[in-house]
Amino acid sequence: MPKVSQRAQDIPPFFVMEVMRAANEREVAQQAVYHMEVGQPGTSAPEGALRAAEEALRNERLGYTDALGIPDIRQGIANRYREIYGLAVAPERIVVTTGSSAGFVLAFLAAFDPGDRVALAAPGYPCYRNILSALGIEPVLLPAELSDRFQPTEALLDKARESGPLAGLIVASPSNPTGTMLGTQAMKDLAAYCAKHDTRLISDEIYHGITYESDADCALAFNPDAVIINSFSKYFSMTGWRLGWMVMPDDLVRVTESLSQNLYISPPTLSQIAGVAALDCAEELDRNVAQYARNRELLLEALPNAGFDSIAPADGAFYLYADVSHMTNDSDAFCRTILAKTGVAITPGIDFDPDRGNRFVRFSFAGPTETMAAAAQAQRDWREG
Ligand SMILES: Cc1ncc(COP(=O)(O)O)c(C=O)c1O
Repeated sequence: MPKVSQRAQDIPPFFVMEVMRAANEREVAQQAVYHMEVGQPGTSAPEGALRAAEEALRNERLGYTDALGIPDIRQGIANRYREIYGLAVAPERIVVTTGSSAGFVLAFLAAFDPGDRVALAAPGYPCYRNILSALGIEPVLLPAELSDRFQPTEALLDKARESGPLAGLIVASPSNPTGTMLGTQAMKDLAAYCAKHDTRLISDEIYHGITYESDADCALAFNPDAVIINSFSKYFSMTGWRLGWMVMPDDLVRVTESLSQNLYISPPTLSQIAGVAALDCAEELDRNVAQYARNRELLLEALPNAGFDSIAPADGAFYLYADVSHMTNDSDAFCRTILAKTGVAITPGIDFDPDRGNRFVRFSFAGPTETMAAAAQAQRDWREG
């Protein structure tokens, strides 16, 4: 028999997709389902983006573009850094990607070699460690604590460096699955730590724009060598358009361009045209964020009554990460039971933290407010019944 690569077999599934499949099976069987498993907006792309795409479909050839993206979107994104963060970024440093997911592949290939060690917080977005492993780079999980908002700390990094140098550190603020953010001082400290130890800082800023207590800091403000990764998937509500971007430091632009030409040729043309228009849709997009804020309020009030009373500070994104150790020590089985008994689909923590995830679950509140209210009630009825 021809072989199947060991490297590929070692990559675990993304459990949230399995929960989604089970939830969809319930739906097909006409049973109630409250979707709180998937981390994607329930809204479509903003109106301006849809109009631009319609027009382009009729009137443009939609061939390949430059590997780094069309000039308009690179300029528009560069402008955004000045408007939002007061940062001067040359459009030549903007790399448009096929979602931030392709951004990770490009960034990791550009910055790291096989065998390099890259640190990241657990709990964290599972694809970071799985993409690193698929590329032969060693993910070094930092067991982050609630007292540090589940974010990396210098002490955790010092400990990780006892086993060898760290070529990189990945941070996400707000984070998935916790929604927690790094305060300005904490981000500054991590940025300085990376500079001191020749560690490449990779900052996933995909949830910027979806924050509730304070604005998020762009890591570029504190570390000029950082790679910034972002996307049209969350704030811009364009998951399926597969459009993201990176701000690359000067030394990585050319290598990233060559990688991108070879791996992807170019990001999707129609999506890039729609993305340019989406950059001007703040009013509509901020209404989506206001809805997430309402959902968050509702759940923070209702979930403790259903037994979920230990929730990480939900600073941003659209997630609540709850400690359920008083209810289970098997979060996967617990989520399956909840889906079967109440129709509420949530994600087991093992997706995000292989060691401690059995004590946690993640609720996504990106969907309609009515769904959130009904889901909270269903949980409560079940717990009380
Ligand atoms: C933290 C984080 N980064 C990146 C992604 C990937 O997003 P995309 O490839 O759609 O840009 C996700 C998706 O849920 C995420 O939660």
